This record gives sequence, structure tokens and C-alpha cells, in this order.
Amino acid sequence: MAADQSAKTGADIVPAPPQANTHCTAADYDRLYAQSVSDPDAFWGTQAERIDWMTPPTVISNWDYDPVDIKWFEDGVLNICHNALDRHVAAGKGDVTALIFEPDDPNSEARKLTYAELLSEVSKMANCLKAMGVKKGDRVTIYMPMIPEGAMAMLACARIGAIHSVVFGGFSPEALAGRIEDCGSRFVITADAGLRGGKTVPLKANVDAAIDEPDHETPLDGVLVVNHVGADIAMVQGRDHWYHKLAATVSNDCACEPMAAEDPLFILYTSGSTGKPKGVLHTTGGYAVWTATTFHYVFDYQPGEVFWCSADIGWVTGHSYIVYGPLLNGATEVMFEGVPNYPDFSRFWQVIEKYQVNIFYTAPTAIRALMREGDEPVKAHDRSSLRLLGTVGEPINPEAWRWYHQVVGEGRCPIVDTWWQTETGGTMITTLPAAHDMKPGSAGKPFFGIQPQLVDNEGGVLEGATDGNLCIIASWPGQARSVYGDHERFEQTYFSTYKGKYFTGDGCKRDEDGYYWITGRVDDVINVSGHRMGTAEVESALVSHAKVAEAAVVGYPHDIKGQGIYCYVTLNAGEEPSDELVAELRKHVRTEIGPIATPDHLHLTPGLPKTRSGKIMRRILRKIAENDYGSLGDTSTLADPSIVDSLIEGRLNR
Ligand code: WTA
Repeated sequence: MAADQSAKTGADIVPAPPQANTHCTAADYDRLYAQSVSDPDAFWGTQAERIDWMTPPTVISNWDYDPVDIKWFEDGVLNICHNALDRHVAAGKGDVTALIFEPDDPNSEARKLTYAELLSEVSKMANCLKAMGVKKGDRVTIYMPMIPEGAMAMLACARIGAIHSVVFGGFSPEALAGRIEDCGSRFVITADAGLRGGKTVPLKANVDAAIDEPDHETPLDGVLVVNHVGADIAMVQGRDHWYHKLAATVSNDCACEPMAAEDPLFILYTSGSTGKPKGVLHTTGGYAVWTATTFHYVFDYQPGEVFWCSADIGWVTGHSYIVYGPLLNGATEVMFEGVPNYPDFSRFWQVIEKYQVNIFYTAPTAIRALMREGDEPVKAHDRSSLRLLGTVGEPINPEAWRWYHQVVGEGRCPIVDTWWQTETGGTMITTLPAAHDMKPGSAGKPFFGIQPQLVDNEGGVLEGATDGNLCIIASWPGQARSVYGDHERFEQTYFSTYKGKYFTGDGCKRDEDGYYWITGRVDDVINVSGHRMGTAEVESALVSHAKVAEAAVVGYPHDIKGQGIYCYVTLNAGEEPSDELVAELRKHVRTEIGPIATPDHLHLTPGLPKTRSGKIMRRILRKIAENDYGSLGDTSTLADPSIVDSLIEGRLNR
């Protein structure tokens, strides 16, 4: 296969290097993929055997996209925490290292937890939650740094049937309050503070501030606080509990709650093109099978190997490929608290050398930022342990792909460029390491059971090598089941644009070899350093400032972040533009959402380009933000065409 394709597209193909062991050769992929789409129930019935069921499922799939009702393994009963921990211990693998914790500061003490130790800790935390009154079906908000207790908190919830809702530790008190409120969570698990790049993140203080929000309605029944850095924090009597104190009073034995396959496992908030972030809901059985299966094949994990996913548990990548996927497979993995550039730009490579990491999974934005520092920090550390590299979160430009491949992986390691989403639960499109040649910049081929379809704006199906809107036409086990508390919004967001299909929101090209190339979002979602953000969220943060009349936010190409945040803001009558006000507005967005939403450009303008009916012409704003003035299109329909010249002038001046 390699020879033919190379002949056709020349240097754009990087052959799959031979793998000593593999779970999937090219022939395996072809056979299994064919079966997975022709007889999905047979295929997924077999894959479900990766899971230890209390009652094995007899009904495999039962789904409909119109109206939307998705069920997998519906009569099966299981507990995902049992599958992640107890099962391995029972099989005699209790002494295998599960987590290797590398702290933010390289001089602080690293920790290793075996499967048996993790089971004992998780059981203790589960008993603490019970002691606080948490019951099956309750929502528990987790607002934690990247420390083992973060993973334990998720597993402890799963163990007792509570639904976890992890909120990224970089979100502000306001953003946290909204996420607590939306799912009616009465319990929070947090830490006194977190550490990132040498800076302290005041997590417990943020929780207190969130609860003190004037419009916050739900009182909290309990806050469990992990003592991580010894920060000086306030504890509310009767509500707040130090984890280490409560843990000392409970047993380390806690039975796993039997969960129906379709019982909720977690809620994870993510941004869409409109409105507030949505609480994407995942259920237990399908998600377990999906993350176990994708981890097994995509990373081709072999016993004894060390896996490292550098994501944060606050995002879906951390859920599926730090917590559930690796642990369901009994893997050994690194959990890293820090950031790539602290104390210096060789931190990632130093960690890889220290723990002899075999499989490394990170984001293109990190690769681009590290690439900019040159090859020396990489070469200063031994990377001979690396066997496989992965990327996720945004399209990777071929230049960064080649640097990752050549410099980091010494040309030896295949790269899996995994395309997926919070809503898909796990990897959907990727090459498999031993099965597929790679094309830098292309995610590759559909995973088992995934049937991508490209459609035009009217929903017409496009065949062959083409370019269109990416839909998926058949359900898969890891698919989100709903938006928490708002099933109509779920249907509306994902299944109404192209009736009967799941619409991803991404644009995509398919080439003559059937490789998929994600071109980015086609909706008002931007991807900033791999973080998904609704432009509407940033706009509403800006207009919540007393001096702002109106705001329009667009993405623009950014060398490191992939996309940057460009904000056009008009002020209320009587307000004077100034540098101080620009700084104040940027700070305001950080307070409302968090540092990840900090505007890169804040452009104060006397007006926005609007049609006569008052609609903001975002297309023009995007072009101006991109410094692309040649193709602004017809501006004569604008209510005030002269505004365009003033915007261009404002853009050129920054
Ligand atoms: C983008 C992250 C290109 C895409 C797992 C998607 C990617 C959004 C890739 C989901 C990739 C993710 N190549 N684009 N390999 N992976 N994306 O929900 O636009 O945070 O829709 O999930 O990230 O972001 P989310």
C-alpha cells in the first residue's frame, strides 16, 4: 500500500514504520472496519468483552437520530471504576504502577501509585463522599489541579454512581458558578490551591467566590478540600471538609454501585456557537467500551509501556485518555501537574526521559510553542524510549507535524493525529500506528464504526475527493446522549442542521485515498490553543461591562495558539476610548471566563458593520482580523459602508 500511495502523492506520505507488536495491521483494519460498519452489533458486542459486566448486555445498539434517542448495551450492568481498578487488582496486577505523578516543580516530590494503592485511595474518597451525603445520581463538581486526587475524585464519583462534572481549574469563579448552577450540583471537590508554572491558583478561594455570587441560588451541602500546597484558606464549618481528615475516619473498602449502561457517568461543559456552555452528558456502558477500545487500538498500548497524555482532566481529553481509557486498559501513565515551559522549555522532554515514556500525546499548540524554541531543549534529553506520538485538539500544520516527527520522534515514531470532540467521547478519525501511512496535516481514516459523511450547505451528500461539512451518519458507543437538562438543545445543536445526521461543526476535506483533513470549525466556535470557545461567550462577557455597548468576537490565525481572539467593541455614548479601558476590558473577560479567554486584540471602534436590518456582518470582521482586505465582498449593503474603512485603519494601526 505504501508504494502506490507514495507514487501518487510523493513526499506528502510518511510510511507507517514497522511496529514490533501491534494490535492492528493494515489487513486487520480493513477487515475490522468493514465488519464494524456492516454488522455494528456483532463488532461492538465483541468489543464490549473488554469490560467486566455485572450483567452482560444482550441488546447492543438501539438508537435513532430523529427524534434523538441513543442507547448502547442498554440491558448491561457495570461499574466503570471497578473496570478501571478492582478488576486489575483481582487479576493479580495490583502491584503494577497506575499513576506516576510529576509535580509542577521538578524539585518537589514525585509520587507513584500502584493499581492496589489507587483502589484503596479511591475507595476512601468514595466513602468520604458518602459520609458527606452524596448519593447515586447526585452531581458532583470537581475543580481540581492536575494531581492524582483529581483522577481519584472522578473515579470515586463513578464508584458510587454520582455524576461528575469536572470544571477546568483555569476557569474563573463566575464560570464555575454557572457550571455548578446549571447542573444543580450541591457538592464540590477541590484543593486548597493548584500550581501551574510556579504560580499558585487559588482554587478553594475561587469556589468560595463562586458560591458568594449574588445570583447563585443552589447552596452547597459539602465541599471536600484536598490539602495540596498548604495554602491559607477559609473553611466553612459543617460544609467544608479537609480530605485528609475525613479520609482518616473512613474505611478503604467501598462496594461499587451497579450502574445500568445508560446511567449517566459525567457531564462536561463545552462551548457552542450560541448561548451558555452546554453540559454534554455521557453515560456509562458505551463510554467505557469506547474509551477502552480506542485507547487499545489508537495508542497500540503494550503491557509495561509508559503512556503520557499532557492534557488536563478539565477537558475531555483528560477524561478519556488520562482517566478512563488508560486505566481501563491497565496501563501505566504519567500525570503531569505543570506546563511545557516551566522551569524551562525542555520540561516535556525531561519528563519523557525521567520516566522513559513510550507514548506521548499532546496538542499542536504546545508543539508549535516548543518548536519555536529550537531543537536544543529537545536534544538535551534522551527520547529513545518514545515509540508513538499523538496530537489532539486542533488541526496540526504540516511544519509542526514534521518537527514533531523528525526532531522529537527522531523520525522513528508514528504520529496519530486524532480528531474528536467532547461530544464524541473518544477518537473518531485517526491513522492507526501500524496500519496506515501518515499524511502530515491529515487526521487520516475513520476509527471502527465511524461513518463520516461530507455534505454541502444544503445537506447534499458529497462523494469521493471533496470538501464539505463533516457529519457522522451512524451512532457509536461513546457518543454523547444529551445536553444535561435540555435534550431539545442537544437535538437542535447537533441533529437539526442536517436531519438524521450528527453534525460536528467542523469543515473537512477528503482526498483520493479516503484520508480526512479537518479544516476547522464552520460555526462561531473558535479553537484557541486547543481550547474550544464560543465567540458568543466572549461577547457576552464584554457586554456585561458597564461601559460596553456592543461586542463582536472572531477568531484569526495565530502562529502559536492556532486561533487568536479578536474583539471589536463599541462603547456606550459618552465613554472615551483609552489604553486603560482596553486593559480593563481584557481583565474583565479574564474575570468572567478565565485567562484562556483573554482577548489577543481588543479593537475599540465607533461602530460595527451591520446590514440595514441590523445583522452584524461577521464575515467582514473575520477578514479584517485576518488582515485580508482584498476579498471583503460586497459592502454596499451595509447600513454605513464607511465603517469598513475605519475598521481597516484601526486594524492596520495595531
Ligand atoms: C478540533 C477535543 C483537527 C475540532 C478532543 C473539533 C481537531 C474540536 C482535532 C473539539 C484534530 C480536535 N484535528 N481539529 N486532530 N482534534 N479538533 O470538544 O474543531 O475540546 O470540533 O475536543 O477541536 O474540541 P473539544
